[in-house]
Amino acid sequence: MAFEKLFEQDHIGDCKLKNRIIMAPVGNINMADPSGRPMNKMIDYFIERAKGGTGLLITGLVPVSYGIDPTISEENGTTYFPRIDGSSRTRLSGWRDLTAGVKPYGSKIFIQLSAGLGRVGSPEPALKGKILRSSSWNSNFYIPQVPHLPLSDRKIKKIVKMLGQSAANAKLSGFDGIHLHGHEGYLMDQLTSAPWNRRRFGRYKNKFQFGIDVVREIKKRCGEDFPVIYRLDLTQALQESYGETIFKKQFRGKERTIEEGLRFCTALYEAGVDAFDVDKGCYDNWFWPHPPSYFDDAVYVREIAGRLKDHFRENDIPAKVIAVGKLGKPEVAEEVLKNGWADFVMLGRPLLADPYWPAKVKENRSLEIIHCIGDHEGCIESFKKGGHPCCSVNPYTGFEDTKRLVRSDKIKKVAIVGAGPAGCEAAITAHKRGHHVTLFEKTDRIGGQLCLAAKMAIKHDVERYLDNFRHRLTILQSEGLKIEFNKTIGMDDIKDSFDVIICSNGLKTDMPAIKGLDRIRHAEAREFLQKDMQVPEDCENILVVGGGTLGCEIAYTLAYEKGLNVTLVGRNKELMPESVLANRAQMLWMMMGRGSPSGKRADSLKKPVMVYNASKVVAFTEGKARLLANRNRKDPFTPWRDLIPENVNNPFEKKLDPDNVEEITIDADLVIFAVGGQADDTLYYTLLESKAAKEIYCVGDASNPGRVWEAINSANEIARNI
Ligand SMILES: Cc1cc2nc3c(=O)[nH]c(=O)nc-3n(C[C@H](O)[C@H](O)[C@H](O)COP(=O)(O)O)c2cc1C
Ligand code: SF4
Repeated sequence: MAFEKLFEQDHIGDCKLKNRIIMAPVGNINMADPSGRPMNKMIDYFIERAKGGTGLLITGLVPVSYGIDPTISEENGTTYFPRIDGSSRTRLSGWRDLTAGVKPYGSKIFIQLSAGLGRVGSPEPALKGKILRSSSWNSNFYIPQVPHLPLSDRKIKKIVKMLGQSAANAKLSGFDGIHLHGHEGYLMDQLTSAPWNRRRFGRYKNKFQFGIDVVREIKKRCGEDFPVIYRLDLTQALQESYGETIFKKQFRGKERTIEEGLRFCTALYEAGVDAFDVDKGCYDNWFWPHPPSYFDDAVYVREIAGRLKDHFRENDIPAKVIAVGKLGKPEVAEEVLKNGWADFVMLGRPLLADPYWPAKVKENRSLEIIHCIGDHEGCIESFKKGGHPCCSVNPYTGFEDTKRLVRSDKIKKVAIVGAGPAGCEAAITAHKRGHHVTLFEKTDRIGGQLCLAAKMAIKHDVERYLDNFRHRLTILQSEGLKIEFNKTIGMDDIKDSFDVIICSNGLKTDMPAIKGLDRIRHAEAREFLQKDMQVPEDCENILVVGGGTLGCEIAYTLAYEKGLNVTLVGRNKELMPESVLANRAQMLWMMMGRGSPSGKRADSLKKPVMVYNASKVVAFTEGKARLLANRNRKDPFTPWRDLIPENVNNPFEKKLDPDNVEEITIDADLVIFAVGGQADDTLYYTLLESKAAKEIYCVGDASNPGRVWEAINSANEIARNI
């Protein structure tokens, strides 16, 4: 396929762009020093994306409301955000290096300015005595018992001025334009829309006013020809997401409708906005603005960007429209432009996974693109745990300043045991460094556990990622990398034959010892997936044991793809406690029968998955399972709520009494156990014991069962350094 539209030139305001590919704002958390000055980490990260051919880069959010919104600062006046507010020249030096670094590659760069976080900021400052703020009286998103008080008009006007000053600083530092952070339920969205702005008096009771004032202030400070992109959710889509009852109960029945969103865009255009970047949803249905792996490609582009484009066409408004959300497949991105749904496509995670996406598409090397798997484990989860942006499938993302792939000056013979993601990453990296690599795999294919996950339709992103691994390995085989399939390796096969052995042979699973297990049909989850999820014809009621990600994915898949009655039992208070908000929320939303991978309500489960959280299975008899379920267990389906990190003390959290349980008996024709596994490290320790090679390592699940992020990063670390 030719990708002509993607590589057409265009412009936003007076800013000329070499193609229609824009990098989405992805928070540069912890990429600046504690004063807010961008560090080399951030500069090199953007330069890499400029080298990769992106037409327009946009930074992650840069809040400006210091001293007003307490959630953007940490203790001692430090912050994990980059800063450009105020009159500091110290910080500007980092920004100048950044803009100067990307421009030689032909990329333009805008900065994303943010009014702050408001109710979606961390509740921690309130727990330490600070008063939190929002547009009106609102609850904190993470701990609803923590209130946010309304900002005064005076304070809001001050934020407008701060945004103007920051824009002037950005222009001075070499930025080509401003991108405004008006979406997703952050403070700018809180001030401009119905769910959170219930002000009855003053200038800002008009919900469009704050946006308009900010745009005018920026144009006043930077000149009418200095381009501004405004980012907003065309609708928060709360009613559509949850239905009338929950919408009224949880959200007071208020939201920005699409019609209001269109009117707001017209008003903003009249105030001077040059382009609009539109998505859907907010924190309370975070799976829309952060569409996880489970969604189809471009899940709401037609309905959101396409609708705005139609509105502009009908009203002769020349402002540009930018489409965003799961556009990582080049064919899909090109189609969006060809269909006239938008003028530009914006890529966030696809450019974290592969900064060279634009160059590879342009040079017809699309098969070489390393695709995002939509897990959010490297990018978002890292923020939550105090890190910076990184990526599960690209170990160099966020480490451009430190990790380099250089040829080894001492060529070694390297054996890698197991061709899961860790083994493949180790093999590719070691081969590229010049080592002589043999990859042993006990089955007839590469991918390990990921091949099993990819059997579920909701894991289509993983299948695409595996296609890329296969392609890369095939190319490297022609360059001399050896892969031996159907080869189970014991110590005698490799002892004394290699300089380096890397064990990446995965995990092992056990069946839990539950009374009466022999009286019921059962399977371990991975074994079940391996056999293509075959369910005997006479099985109608399926019990999935295990409330983690795999358990929920299998439960939903059986209900969705096979139309079975599914019950899930999980020990923890919450389902998928280890997962990222967007992914967890979407899965709960789909399991409760409110949503679907297509995003359409009509495709939702007619019969939701029945869930017993804070419960355990204690015995089986023929066709039955006996559970002990905690009487005070919470509603398992609360997609509008996040789980706060373990290190934050929530004084309002109620502990469950483990002895307050009830006995429940349910029907079960088939039981699937998705209860995790243990590292298969026997080979590693045996090789170590017998000194089978000079260097012996263990990576991925064989060392510590985890996620793709750990597997890829541990394998890359070793292979880059042997
Ligand atoms: C790790 C991460 C950080 C993000 N940070 C921001 C941000 O700072 N500002 C913003 O407006 N959107 C942010 N987003 C949303 C993205 O800009 C983008 O809209 C979203 O990822 C969907 O696009 P994609 O499917 O191309 O990734 C972030 C997304 C991710 C994954
Ligand atoms: S961490 Fe996962 S979701 Fe985030 S960019 Fe990488 S592959 Fe995509």
